[in-house]
Amino acid sequence: MAMRNPKTEPEYPIASPTYAHVVGWGMAVPENVMTNDDISAFVETNDEWIVARTGIKERRIASEDESTATLAYKAAQRALEIADILPIDLDLIVVATSTPENIFPSTASLVQDWLNASHAGAFDLSAACSGFVYALNMAADSIRAGSITTALVIGSETMSRILDWQDRSTCILFGDGAGAVVLQASKVEGGVLSSVLRSDGAGCDLLAIPSVGSIDADESRAGSNGHQLFKMYMVGSEVFKFATRVVNDSIDQATKLAGLDVSDIDLVIPHQANYRILQSAARKLKIDINKFMSNVDRYGNTSAASIPIALCEAIEQKRIHDKDHIALVGFGGGLTWASMIIQWGIPEPSQQQSSLINRQRRNILYYTAKWRSRSRRWRRRVNKTMEYLRPKRGRVPRLLRKVDEDDRL
Ligand code: COA
Repeated sequence: MAMRNPKTEPEYPIASPTYAHVVGWGMAVPENVMTNDDISAFVETNDEWIVARTGIKERRIASEDESTATLAYKAAQRALEIADILPIDLDLIVVATSTPENIFPSTASLVQDWLNASHAGAFDLSAACSGFVYALNMAADSIRAGSITTALVIGSETMSRILDWQDRSTCILFGDGAGAVVLQASKVEGGVLSSVLRSDGAGCDLLAIPSVGSIDADESRAGSNGHQLFKMYMVGSEVFKFATRVVNDSIDQATKLAGLDVSDIDLVIPHQANYRILQSAARKLKIDINKFMSNVDRYGNTSAASIPIALCEAIEQKRIHDKDHIALVGFGGGLTWASMIIQWGIPEPSQQQSSLINRQRRNILYYTAKWRSRSRRWRRRVNKTMEYLRPKRGRVPRLLRKVDEDDRL
C-alpha cells in the first residue's frame, strides 16, 4: 500500500472547489409600449427632455392580467428551457423585487408553486435596483459552500403600479419586466468570481416606497411629509450624484477581488437607470462605452429586473463569449450598490439545445402544478363547508374524520 507523504498530501482529502455558473437565462416584458410622447399627453414633459436627460425613449407597462409574479414565472420558464433542467431540480428560488405581489407570501413562493418546483426553498429579496446582484451573490455563495446545487434567481418588477403618474420627475423613468437566470454547481473553473455588496442607509430618504410598517403609514405623519403609502418618491439629483460616485468604484473593487484588471472586463452589464450614469462610469473607469450593455432606451429603469434583462439581450446579440469576464453592477434605494464579476463558462446559446423529452416533462409539471393548487383550494373550501354541516355524533362524523385524514396525507 502506498504511504501518504505528510509534506505533500493533506491528512484529509481536500474536495476540489465548486464553482457557480450561469447555465440558463430568460426574460419577459409586457407587450404594451408607452412612449415619451404617450407620457407627455398627461404630464408636462416632452420626448426631447426625457431622451437628453436619461436616454429613455419608451418603456413597457404591465396589462391588468400581468403582475410581478406572472412576469417572473414567464422569465423563469425560459431560463429553465435554456438550462434544460426540470423545476424539481431547483433547490432555491430567489426573487429580487421592490414590487412584490404581497408583503407575504413571497413572489418567489408563487413562482415555486406555478413551476411545480417541489424541492425548492423560496424567498424574496429586497435591495431595490441592486437586488438582482445581491440575490445572485446569495445563490452563488450557497452553491460554492455546497449547501445547494441549483438556484433560480429572478429580478421582476411592476414599477408602473407604484409610480405617482402625476410626478413627471419619476414617472418618466421606470418600466415593467422580469429576467431570470439558473445558477448551477460545476467543477469547471469560472462562473461567479467575486462580489462586492454595499449599503448606506443614511440615504434612505432619497429613494423609497413607504409600506405598512413605516411611520409614513401613520396618516397624520404621512400628511406632514407628503409621502403616499406604496408610491415611490425620489430626490433625483442626489440619486444621480450617488450613482455616478459609486458605480466605477464598485466595479473596480469587484474586479480587483477577482484578481483582474479593469482592462480584462469584456462587457459591463449595468443597472439601466440613466444612460448618462453609464457614460460617467465608462469615463471614470477608462472603459470604452461600447463595452457597456445598454437597453435603457427601450425599457427604461426596470429596477431589479434591468440587469437580467440586459444580460439576456447581450447573449441574444452574441456579445458574450466563452471565458469572457462580465461585470454586473447595480445601484439604487437603500442606498445600496453591488458589483459582481462572472467568467462566462458554458456553451453559447446556439449550442445549447433543450431536449424534447425534458421540454415535455416540464410542460407536464407546469400543467399539474395548476391543477394541484386549484384542487387543494377546492378541497379546503369543501372541508370548510362540511365542517359547518358536521353533525356532533354518529356515522357521518366518522366519514368526515376519514376525509380529514386523507386530506392530511
Ligand atoms: N420633463 C420636463 N422637465 C422636467 C421633468 C420632466 N420629466 N422632470 C423634471 N423637470 C424639470 C424640473 O422641474 C426642473 O425644472 P426647474 O429648473 O424649473 O425647477 C428641471 O427639469 C431640472 O430638474 P432636475 O431634477 O435638476 O433635473 P436633472 O437634470 O437632475 O434630471 C433626472 C432629472 C430624474 C432625470 C435625474 O436627476 C436622474 O436621472 N437622476 C437619477 C435617477 C435614477 O436613476 N433613479 C433610479 C436609481 S436606481
